[in-house]
Amino acid sequence: MQDRECAGFLRWALPCLERNWSGYRKVRHLVCKRLAQRLKSLGLPDLDAYRRRLAGDGAEWRHLDALCGIPVSRFYRDRGVFGSLEGTVLPALAGAGAPRAAIDAWSAGCASGEEPYTLALIWAVRLQRRFPGIGLRIVATDSDAELLARARAGCYARSSLKELPGDLRAEGFEELDGTWRIRDRFRGVEFLQQDLRERFPEGPFDLVLCRNVVLTYYVPAVQEAVMARIVDRLRPGGALVIGAHESLPPALSGLAAWPGTRMIYRKRAPGPAA
Ligand SMILES: C[S@@+](CC[C@H](N)C(=O)[O-])C[C@H]1O[C@@H](n2cnc3c(N)ncnc32)[C@H](O)[C@@H]1O
Repeated sequence: MQDRECAGFLRWALPCLERNWSGYRKVRHLVCKRLAQRLKSLGLPDLDAYRRRLAGDGAEWRHLDALCGIPVSRFYRDRGVFGSLEGTVLPALAGAGAPRAAIDAWSAGCASGEEPYTLALIWAVRLQRRFPGIGLRIVATDSDAELLARARAGCYARSSLKELPGDLRAEGFEELDGTWRIRDRFRGVEFLQQDLRERFPEGPFDLVLCRNVVLTYYVPAVQEAVMARIVDRLRPGGALVIGAHESLPPALSGLAAWPGTRMIYRKRAPGPAA
C-alpha cells in the first residue's frame, strides 16, 4: 500500500471516527501497516474495496476505530512534567486541605502502564517518606485490552526505561534476560478497560493525567466533551496534566495554569454563590 494512498484514506476515514488527521500525520505508518494487514485478512485488493466494505458496516467501522489506537509511551515521558509533579504538585496535593488517607490519581489512556507506574515509583521512592500515612491510589484506563494485559504483566524492554532516572529504575525493576519487570511493591495500580468517549472511572480525583490521547487524536468536539467531563471529575484544587505538545480547548473553563509548571492545570475552587 502506497503512503499517499493510505494518507488519502485516513484523511477521509478519521473524521468519520471523530479523529483528527493532524494528530495522525506523523504516526500514520503504524495505522497504515495495520490497515494493510486488515485488507489481507479480509481478502480485499485495495483501499477502494475497503471503503466499499465499510459502507453501511458498523462492525467494520468499529474494527477500524480499534486499529487507530497509537500505543506509544515510555517511562518518565516528558521529564519536566514528572519533575513538577514530584517537586510541586504531589507535595501540594498531599499537604492540602483536611488530613487524608490518600491522593486519588487517574491515568487516562495509560497504554502499557508506563505512565501510572512512573507515578507510583515517584511517590513510593521519592515522596512517601515525607508524607507518612498518605497513600497514592492510582486508577489507569485504556480502551485497548492487549495494552492493559501488558500493563498488568509489567514487563518492559530496556528502551521503555531509558528516560527513567537511575534510582527509580534500580528500585523499581528487576532484570531478567533483557526484560525489565516492575517489582511487586509498585504494582498497586488498578487497570480498567474503558473508552474515554463512553465511560470514566468513578472519582473524584486529585490528579488526572490525560496526555497524548484526547487532545491529539480526536476532533475538537470530542476534546471539549471529554475534557469537560474530566474537569468535573477533579476535586477543587486538583491537577490536570496534558501532553507536551497539546493545548486545552479554548471553551474549557474552571482551570488555571499551575504556577511554575508547564502542561499542568489546577481546578479552581467554586466561587461564592450569587
Ligand atoms: C499515545 S498513547 C499515550 C500513553 C500515555 N498517556 C503517554 O502519554 O505516554 C495513547 C493511548 O490512549 C489510548 N486511547 C486512545 N483512544 C482512547 C479512548 N477513546 N479511550 C481510552 N483510551 C484511548 C490508546 O489505546 C493508547 O494506549
